Amino acid sequence: MASLPIKPDPYYQDERVSGKRSRATEVTGAAAPVLSYRDENFTDEVARATQPAWEKLHDLMPDVEWLLKAPLVHKINRLKRERRAIILAHNYQAPEIFYGVADFTGDSLELARRAAALSEDGAPIAVMCGGNFMAWTVKVLAPARRVLIPDVQAGCSLAESISAADVRLLKERYLGAPVVTYVNTSAEVKAESDICCTSANALEIVVAAARAFKSKRVVFLPDHYLAMNVAAQTPIEIIAWRGTCMVHERFTVQQIRDLREQFPGVRVLVHPEAPPEVCAVADFVGSTSGMIKDVGLSHANKVVMVTECSMADNVAAANPGVQFVRPCVLCPHMQRITLQKILACLETLQPEVKIAPEVAARARRPIERMLELSSRFKSQAAKATLD
Ligand code: 13P
Repeated sequence: MASLPIKPDPYYQDERVSGKRSRATEVTGAAAPVLSYRDENFTDEVARATQPAWEKLHDLMPDVEWLLKAPLVHKINRLKRERRAIILAHNYQAPEIFYGVADFTGDSLELARRAAALSEDGAPIAVMCGGNFMAWTVKVLAPARRVLIPDVQAGCSLAESISAADVRLLKERYLGAPVVTYVNTSAEVKAESDICCTSANALEIVVAAARAFKSKRVVFLPDHYLAMNVAAQTPIEIIAWRGTCMVHERFTVQQIRDLREQFPGVRVLVHPEAPPEVCAVADFVGSTSGMIKDVGLSHANKVVMVTECSMADNVAAANPGVQFVRPCVLCPHMQRITLQKILACLETLQPEVKIAPEVAARARRPIERMLELSSRFKSQAAKATLD
């Protein structure tokens, strides 16, 4: 049996006493108490194999928690290799998933790009740790792969707000206007759409769609706040749906003011699913990966991420010199994905994502259009940087 390597624990030392992890916390720099735990499942082999993950996680969780999680991380990684599976995880996933078992992490756009490349590598199985709409996108882009989602109920309030029949009605009503659909939707809704977008490329996609359709207006589904945030940056008329993200709709301007007052100099990063008035008082607005990049590029030493709060843990682990203020709003859907469920899904190869081939074929076009266009934006941006 191995003893757990003990590391200083600047973030959670006081939480161990209070039992709370969710309040705004500052780095204390205090060392953790020196303890040596033993557990029958935490063998020398487990300790060795999971050491790289522990290097990232030691500031994020109490030692006792890792003793329970490390054996699961080890089992998942062994089974993953045996089954030649690949694990994709969204930036919101809990740190033990993000750092412990994921082969690829990213925002929705990066995950879709990785999914599109799945047919080029040998992995016959992909496990999507994120919302079920992300797993549907993987299946649509890689139909020959077995796609698993550890919990089918990991949904999304945006995806649930609209059906394919709604989109058909909108198309009748706004004849000639392109339908731009956020990736947080079902395959059936995507199948009715002209082009998809994510939070990383929404404005560029709207502009490109209006140009391609020679239309002065664009139907944008289903996130009302993202639609308003795009509309604020373009003269194109945006026809919006009334969907909202149950995490981001809760943030208010008053909260941002209070955070700035309590933590002077804090850099405020906001996801564009938040209300426009909240985005308007941010220092940076962007996708989850955009926020992660901003932490590195801005050299800010105090940051608050106005989004699902698991992400701050993941970013903090990679940026030990930055102080993260953590008001915590968790996405109940994303939190459904756990190590136990990932292990069960690799053992049973269930639940498997199934999409009717004709729906998948129609849903693929708008996603591929987005990927094609956004790689063009990327190369144009790279060229602009070089010029
Ligand atoms: P990103 O594409 O920015 O990662 O956002 C996904 C999401 O669902 C945010 O709530």
